[in-house]
Amino acid sequence: MNTINICNGPSGASRLIMGCMRMPALSVDDAAKMIQTAYDLGINYYDHATCYGNGDAELRFGEAFKKTGIKREDIFIQSKCGLNFVDNIFDWRRDSIIEAVDGILSRLQMEYLDVLLLHRPDLLFEPEQVAEAFDKLEAAGKVKTFGVSNTMPMQIELLKKFVKQPLKINQLQLSLEQSQLIDQDLYMNNKTTDMSLMRDGGTLCYSRLNDITIQAWSPLQQGMFGGMFIDNEDFPELNKVLGELGEKYGVSKSAIAVAWILRHPAKMQVITGTMNPVHLSEMVDADKVELTHEEWYRLYLASGKFLP
Ligand SMILES: NC(=O)c1ccc[n+]([C@@H]2O[C@H](COP(=O)([O-])OP(=O)(O)OC[C@H]3O[C@@H](n4cnc5c(N)ncnc54)[C@H](OP(=O)(O)O)[C@@H]3O)[C@@H](O)[C@H]2O)c1
Repeated sequence: MNTINICNGPSGASRLIMGCMRMPALSVDDAAKMIQTAYDLGINYYDHATCYGNGDAELRFGEAFKKTGIKREDIFIQSKCGLNFVDNIFDWRRDSIIEAVDGILSRLQMEYLDVLLLHRPDLLFEPEQVAEAFDKLEAAGKVKTFGVSNTMPMQIELLKKFVKQPLKINQLQLSLEQSQLIDQDLYMNNKTTDMSLMRDGGTLCYSRLNDITIQAWSPLQQGMFGGMFIDNEDFPELNKVLGELGEKYGVSKSAIAVAWILRHPAKMQVITGTMNPVHLSEMVDADKVELTHEEWYRLYLASGKFLP
């Protein structure tokens, strides 16, 4: 699989990431099979968060990973903290971040994280506290690379005033049917559609300007976990075009949906969520597809947009 360098490092990360949010539903043996399948397909990057299954995803991964033949140093492990569903708070306090990483490492049974992301902004965040936490985690060798998720440009600027480590990643929602990250750049100043609303402070251009790698989450979902748009009768035109392009390239509709994200010049990574080895192998075919400029727009329009 093609790889990318995430803003000067870590280098050699696969463009597809295996998301582990849905891993708690698997047995340890099935989780091991999923991890190994992904690796054999060329995926060397695994995404976690403390809140996935309230820690169960990391726990299951840690147990399962030992059953695979994969060496720790051959993969990238990423997790996220700061979203606390137990107490219903967002939490970027210094000690909470440090304790969260200790919990992650203990559940994963690993010595270090390749990447730590702050999951979603804590409205009460103090950047000085984040900076102290990152310094401690880096000095202890527990985290190599830092980033954010669902975070706006001005919040990143505020963090950067105090945090000395480069913030190399922003994990954001993007799919053909949840594409506001892209829409707002097209419909700007258009009063006839809500798609013109700038909902994220210009995150797409900001990321490109600042060499921040966007990781697109939920690439097959409509709305916020509204279900898949693939083979969904509510999206006939999109499925027609996905099918036609799938036939042209000899891949599945899901691969074309992922290829649509990979085709964007921002050089994004895509986080898959399937826990089915067959579905994963179908999606990985996206790596072989280079959609034309025209095909990219054809898919965009088929997903219910219009050219202003
Ligand atoms: N930063 C954030 O705030 C945030 C939020 C949400 C998610 N994430 C990350 O993004 C990852 C992906 O999210 P997601 O799970 O919503 O992504 P997704 O890939 O859009 O959706 C996966 C779901 O689609 C189902 N599916 C059904 N048919 C499929 C097919 N033919 N091919 C592929 N999938 C099919 C899968 O079921 P099967 O298992 O049966 O295939 C699974 O339930 C998560 O694991 C997590 O790492 C991040």
